[in-house]
Amino acid sequence: MIILGIESSCDETSAAVLADGKLKSNIISSQLIHQQYGGIVPELASRAHQRLIVPVVEQALTVAQIKKEQLNAVAVTHGPGLMGALLVGMSFAKALAYGLKIPLIGINHMEAHMYSNFIDDPKPAFPFLCLIVSGGHTQLVYVREPLQHELLGETLDDAAGEAYDKVGKMLGLGFPGGPVIDKLAKEGNPNFVKFPRSYLDPGKYDFSFSGIKTSVLYWLRDHGYRNNENIKPIPKQELADLCASFQAAVVDVLVRKTIQAARDLGVQDIAVAGGVSANSELRARLKSVSEENGFKLFIPAFEYCTDNGAMIAQLGAMKLENGFQSDFTLNAIPNLNISYAS
Ligand code: KG4
Ligand code: ZN
Repeated sequence: MIILGIESSCDETSAAVLADGKLKSNIISSQLIHQQYGGIVPELASRAHQRLIVPVVEQALTVAQIKKEQLNAVAVTHGPGLMGALLVGMSFAKALAYGLKIPLIGINHMEAHMYSNFIDDPKPAFPFLCLIVSGGHTQLVYVREPLQHELLGETLDDAAGEAYDKVGKMLGLGFPGGPVIDKLAKEGNPNFVKFPRSYLDPGKYDFSFSGIKTSVLYWLRDHGYRNNENIKPIPKQELADLCASFQAAVVDVLVRKTIQAARDLGVQDIAVAGGVSANSELRARLKSVSEENGFKLFIPAFEYCTDNGAMIAQLGAMKLENGFQSDFTLNAIPNLNISYAS
């Protein structure tokens, strides 16, 4: 069974080929154009996807040494994401599947992030808990059995990645802020500033990250580094200390809530997914806390943490095996819920 996975929900144009459960290619083209705007510009994202979709798919097929006629199905993200961006991938996937007379499988991008943990071995055993931390979402999901899951809690305001990106912008570190803050934090003191940790209701699994972000802004203002939009350069060590302190606050909350949920549910396996799962501190802390508490931790390889076609092909294969197939009326749904089965 050979599946082509296509991802175009945000600012990565990606395509991957999965053959009999083995990943043969995973081509990711990240759109650099957004860096100069400090965030993703939807119209520019759509245009870049349109320019990139054909060469990216062609390269995925070439690297996999697969001819398009050999494909058995096309899986494509149909939400959540930016409307124009989603439509590029979907229109392409529909046309290809229609032309080749093969099944089209609509994929929920957040569900695909969860199943990025199934691309390589070892895989989590059902039931497991999944923490999804990306630029647009922060969710704890109970995955009962293959393709059956329920949302336990999510952020009530900013997503963890969004907080990283906004703080990165405040510190003058460009976009996206997550990877840069992660790198600088390695040289910093996490106890330099005690930013607030928002644990909300201890019996619930929701998150809130807008308070931490605002605290960083106030700290910068109170220490004379920011005056409205004007940023005064921050000395190197202080910048690293600020990054480490902000990161410690975010990671503390993510780790504590995740371990609490795993204990409450009585699961053995914990999986992490989404762009922020590339974060070195989050990976290290979850690893040590899981070991201390007897949980098995699963985190995808770096290339499957941020948006990628491999996770789309992976979930596509699982859906096809379980008899799921979309028809050609499949629509792009920008606010598609993780509990929605396409
Ligand atoms: O999953 P993803 O590629 O796209 C969405 O579906 O949102 O996640 C992108 C997010 C961005 O907010 C980016 O700053 C964050 O993941 N990110 C990181 C790291 N690498 C990417 N955040 C913290 N540390 C990192 N190393
Ligand atoms: Zn994503």
